[in-house]
Amino acid sequence: MFAQIDISGREKVQQLDQAKRADLGQFFTPFRIARFMASLFQDQGQTKIRLLDAGAGVGSLTVAFLEKFGKPPRQQIDLLAYELDRAVSSSLKANLSEHAIHLMETGIRVIPEIVEGDFIQEGVISYMFGRHKPADYAILNPPYRKINSDSTHRRLLRKVGVETVNLYSGFVALAVLLLKDGGELVAIIPRSFCNGLYYRPFREFLLSKTAIRQIHIFDSRNKAFKDDGVLQENIIIHLVKNIPQGEVKISASTDDDFRDYHEFTLPFGRIVSDADPEKFIHIPSAKIDQQIASSENFIYSLTDLGVEVSTGPVVDFRVKDFLQQELGIDGAPLLYPAHFGQKNVDWPKLNFKKSNALRIAPETRKQFFPTGCYTLVRRFSAKEEKRRIVARIVTPADLPGELVGFENHLNVFHQGKKGLQEEMALGLAVYLNSTMIDNYFRQFNGHTQVNATDLRLLKYPSKKVLIDLGKWATTLSNFDQAIIDAKIDSLL
Ligand SMILES: C[S@@+](CC[C@H](N)C(=O)[O-])C[C@H]1O[C@@H](n2cnc3c(N)ncnc32)[C@H](O)[C@@H]1O
Repeated sequence: MFAQIDISGREKVQQLDQAKRADLGQFFTPFRIARFMASLFQDQGQTKIRLLDAGAGVGSLTVAFLEKFGKPPRQQIDLLAYELDRAVSSSLKANLSEHAIHLMETGIRVIPEIVEGDFIQEGVISYMFGRHKPADYAILNPPYRKINSDSTHRRLLRKVGVETVNLYSGFVALAVLLLKDGGELVAIIPRSFCNGLYYRPFREFLLSKTAIRQIHIFDSRNKAFKDDGVLQENIIIHLVKNIPQGEVKISASTDDDFRDYHEFTLPFGRIVSDADPEKFIHIPSAKIDQQIASSENFIYSLTDLGVEVSTGPVVDFRVKDFLQQELGIDGAPLLYPAHFGQKNVDWPKLNFKKSNALRIAPETRKQFFPTGCYTLVRRFSAKEEKRRIVARIVTPADLPGELVGFENHLNVFHQGKKGLQEEMALGLAVYLNSTMIDNYFRQFNGHTQVNATDLRLLKYPSKKVLIDLGKWATTLSNFDQAIIDAKIDSLL
């Protein structure tokens, strides 16, 4: 029926003024993607359904939806499409009418309603005044544009409890509100909301109002919209309103021909960690990430291991008067990332620009840890550096005295402010130094810092596996990347 499904108006619109296209976020969904998106909806065999398409463009998504649902037992399909740009909405009208007529001939009534206006404005008003008819399905490729905190869009969205920084997330949130309970939404959107700090209220909104059923990623960047040259990294997300959250299906393909489509399911806790106040949505992508995310070997939290991680408490400029180059009679070693050696720390450092020691005094006393075995991770790295996570250990044999200070550029793994069992400290360092963990970390962390919170959110092998790793590494003279990676791979 939809033999020549390619939609008219697309080419015409694509020749429109580039600046306007960018402003309105007019990047049209390639039909193979539209079809894939529609395929994610569950057909529950209803005779009458209602679809919402917000920012409908020339209607590719709605047409793909009709292709899937325009068959018995359907008797009626109500379509509600919003499109702001009249240059586009004329093609939208033509396309939807054409498909409506097609389906009428097969006995299915299709009732299109096209709103030539601003979805945020119209949608908020109809929701606030209870004038909307809740939809069974929503399909979206919304416009992307930042919305400032004093803009009309922001103020309107706030009125319905949506606080967000971009039109795309505003569109998705509003579409969720306009769905029935149990209603489904499929959207293609940038993945920035998954871990952007400013998107936290939006994540909280989504996670409280919907269950994530599936997330599809395109393994190679930007290919999904190659026609339009959009420099965004897109995901397709399938949400169901107000149902309990179950497992999440993660799927991936290189591009929009879906030839190498593959999928696996993960417990929700692997996507959004209970312990994470930011509610980052972590989508494993590369093979190795999928392996770690689904491996039974790496499921423990630091709490499960009885281990804590803290930021080094010594902020050197605050204790300037107590810094010293050598131990003297009243000093204890102070460790910086610059003290990292091949495997353990290398202390003291000659001609060190910073300080090798901190004087023990009532003002500094609380900042020291007792000498012991600790795993240390550098907090900062430069963009061009190969690794984000760099771990070393310190043992009592590396330092004189009873106390040690950890400077603020370090993260310290400890147990109730005391040292760890030596093999455990070493095992943790091996694990953290692996390429797998570094890739995994980069995946959900866009910046170059490694903070204690990030390390708390990672999953770890069991205590036994870590101790075995530590025993294995005792004879290594350094954390040779290839050797460590081979060892970690053997655990997968
Ligand atoms: C990324 S395009 C996607 C179009 C279509 N859904 C598709 O998948 O091909 C977003 C569309 O939203 C429209 N749009 C932008 N701002 C809008 C708004 N505030 N209300 C309604 N539509 C809007 C644009 O004109 C554009 O056609």
